[in-house]
Amino acid sequence: MNLAKYLARLGYGTRREVEALLARGAVTDDAGRRLDDRATLAACPHDRIRVAGEPLDPPPGSVFLLHKPAGYVCSTSDRPPLVYDLLPPRLRQRDPIVAIVGRLDRDTTGLLLLTDDGALLHRLTSPRSHLPKAYRAQLADALSGSEGQTFGSGTVTLDGERTPLAPATLDPLSAREARLTITEGRYHQVRRMFAAVGNHVTALHRESLGPLTLGELPEGAWRLLTLGERAALDDAVRTARARPRDPG
Ligand code: URA
Repeated sequence: MNLAKYLARLGYGTRREVEALLARGAVTDDAGRRLDDRATLAACPHDRIRVAGEPLDPPPGSVFLLHKPAGYVCSTSDRPPLVYDLLPPRLRQRDPIVAIVGRLDRDTTGLLLLTDDGALLHRLTSPRSHLPKAYRAQLADALSGSEGQTFGSGTVTLDGERTPLAPATLDPLSAREARLTITEGRYHQVRRMFAAVGNHVTALHRESLGPLTLGELPEGAWRLLTLGERAALDDAVRTARARPRDPG
């Protein structure tokens, strides 16, 4: 792929705009040598390319892990602020776009993945993916003590749905706080599960997705998955798909 096409796909502008950048000499290697459209990625790989002296955004196929704050919307086009406002500005212009992997509600905080790796996106969002997702929920009312058994039974059916939920695991953390681990991704699932047992979620935070956690990442910040995390995620997705669903 020639450089103009590569940079356009990374969101640096239309093909024409990127050609203008190249013609102006704004694209160089890490030694400041000017690159033109005949430069190949083999000769000057992604990590060595500079645009206006700046390294390129992360390469295609990257996985971004964001600590989502409350108030940000998981959408490319909704009313701002959007989660994309917290990431490098070109990610929405990429081809393919860096897409959100499993949305969080506007008021939900915590771990959010985004990627332009279409195969990974498909594996993670497929209904056949049963990757565990752990949420910490603050509740309006005290736990009754029976929620764990109810959610673990595989018999709960959400309002307006016909298929019962897969068994989920509840760990009470205090009278009004619990960790709920689910293996599906239905619309507003955690809030609707607590509503189904007569409670109300007042705050929700996603702590983990499969083997991934936020670690020390501050709210509003992002980082790329490490190679080790990426391998662990691939393993977990494979295992979660292979495991037959618990009949409850
Ligand atoms: N379940 C919810 O109800 N909301 C979220 O944001 C994620 C899971």
